[in-house]
Amino acid sequence: MQQNINGKTKLLGVIGNPIEHTISPTIHNTLAKMLNMNFVYVPFKVDYNDLGKAIEGAQALNIVGLNITVPYKEKVIPSLCDIMPLAKQIGAVNTLKLTEKGYVGYNTDADGLFRSLNEHAITLRESHIVIIGAGGAARAVAMLCAREKANKITIINRTRAKAQELAHHVRRHYPTEMEVLRFHDIHGIDTFDVAIQTTPIGMSPNVLNNPVTDDSFYDKFHTAVDLIYNPGKTAFLKKAEEKGIQILNGFEMLLYQGIKAYEIWNNVEISDSVLEEVIRQIKNQNG
Ligand code: ATR
Repeated sequence: MQQNINGKTKLLGVIGNPIEHTISPTIHNTLAKMLNMNFVYVPFKVDYNDLGKAIEGAQALNIVGLNITVPYKEKVIPSLCDIMPLAKQIGAVNTLKLTEKGYVGYNTDADGLFRSLNEHAITLRESHIVIIGAGGAARAVAMLCAREKANKITIINRTRAKAQELAHHVRRHYPTEMEVLRFHDIHGIDTFDVAIQTTPIGMSPNVLNNPVTDDSFYDKFHTAVDLIYNPGKTAFLKKAEEKGIQILNGFEMLLYQGIKAYEIWNNVEISDSVLEEVIRQIKNQNG
């Protein structure tokens, strides 16, 4: 996918560590090519103590847009000149847009998940949602569920204090009913609607790991979402599918957060036909 790089080429990129397995360059370079825009998107592996320097350098080099991924979505915030309200509420940023004053931070993860859920007719409104995990990804999911008026959110996490902190954070912004459980309390859980798995448990290469081993859990809900996209079917989703539960992985969320970032950087709207081509290219390049 070689592009014509010339004096007018603008640079976009993604900062993270590790970064080698990212599929974001495929998403954005395909978009640039299809929309005939003179942009190149590259991965930047940045050491933990160099993040501030990297952002300053990126600004000096006129890098017009950046994605920020693990482990920097929170750490990057002090380097920004401004932050959008949703990103501020979530406390995490995955997209930076360069302005005259510096980088403005956005969070397109929540929008990406929301669009992916909508495409599969998975409803948050008036639903009881169980979130597995209480890290950065869970935070975006919890704020989205609350914003979309879920009627109850249960957070299941290994470390109870972290789950409680997230529950309090949600309650500071929304009146949603919150519940906190640990994995060994899971057998007592009421029936609910959707389980959203946000931990790295089951991610390649540890594909046999499943955060929820209690069989009775899988009799209690109708839809299982895992934010992991590699493998496409985690042990958690496999188990859910065996029990007749509707399943959805994190691939479309990843895709849609990227699309949204591109729309923010370039003030364009991506059509469905372009989106389909991007999906085709990703599948070609990743088998
Ligand atoms: P991210 O930003 O990707 O969400 P994170 O902030 O490091 O990553 O959060 C990871 C989440 O996965 C946490 O909820 C973590 O549980 P703790 O709060 O108890 O640390 C959870 N997690 C990660 N590895 C885990 C494991 N082996 N068993 C149980 N929970 C795990």
